[in-house]
Amino acid sequence: MSQRGLHWGIATGSIALLAACNQVQSALAPVADESRAIERVWDLMLWICGPMYVLVLLALGYALWRNRGTGHGRASDRTLWFGLLGFTVLTAGLLTVLTAQSYVQDRRLHAPVVDPVNVRITAKQWWWQVEYLDADPSKQFTTANELHLPVDRPARIELRTSDVIHSLWIPVLNGKEDLIPGHANMITMTPRKVGRYRGQCAEFCGLQHANMALDVRVDDPRAFAAWQSHQRMPGNTPTTRATMAGRNDFTATACAMCHAIGGTDAGGVVGPNLTHLASRSALAAGAMPLNRGTLETWIADPQRHKPGTNMPAVPLQPQQLSDITDYLMSLN
Ligand code: CUA
Repeated sequence: MSQRGLHWGIATGSIALLAACNQVQSALAPVADESRAIERVWDLMLWICGPMYVLVLLALGYALWRNRGTGHGRASDRTLWFGLLGFTVLTAGLLTVLTAQSYVQDRRLHAPVVDPVNVRITAKQWWWQVEYLDADPSKQFTTANELHLPVDRPARIELRTSDVIHSLWIPVLNGKEDLIPGHANMITMTPRKVGRYRGQCAEFCGLQHANMALDVRVDDPRAFAAWQSHQRMPGNTPTTRATMAGRNDFTATACAMCHAIGGTDAGGVVGPNLTHLASRSALAAGAMPLNRGTLETWIADPQRHKPGTNMPAVPLQPQQLSDITDYLMSLN
């Protein structure tokens, strides 16, 4: 490939990547009622403040032009008075419009919702625990670093943290909302478009703040119901030698002190619930893609991939590491 061709390839590749990013994590590509309300405020503010900025610059340019050189050509008191009055009335009027619009859209963001999906998200250094709540405790389940929501149905999300202040931001669905120690915040989202999106912690919370992503899926109602009923099931029962050995090693070592796997003795609540780990697409809150290779290197040395993470390297024989990896990869 010629150098020019290479540059073009890189440029178009970057643009395609930026466009792709834009779709999944941009407040300018809203797909929910709430984010669209925010976008309306942004649009109005842009269309008012942009022309106002230009007007002010034009007025300044005109004043400098009239006053160039000797100081002759000063505007009369009458012209100045009308100019000042005009700008004051215009500014006050536009500020009133902006305030009213902001108030109306803010009410819309906090309107009560009917028949919501109830979710509790707990931020931890540095990952998200996601619990689906239900009046029937047997229907509750816990996952991590991924949020599935049904399209055209509001979700009511309770936000908590077990350590420091974090901030949940899924730009395509709603604005930022802080997760504050000892306090529960609430945020609602009503997605209108099926797709895969991305959320991110938006408040600096320590060393791995940047690796605190949330995989967000908006599903059609049938796909959501199927996902939900699958998540409620216990982890798959191992059927091969490796996965059976892996389960035994997992429950007998320090792994089980921090992680839970439904249907086994592993009941730790410090780290992410792994009951359906292999159904997720990323590892360590988006720090790396999830496949057998990345999972094995992650377990062997978490600090190398995400320095500062609370997950320690559990001393394992190579065979144990391989079996545990096989077992976890069977938990789809
Ligand atoms: Cu959590 Cu930044």
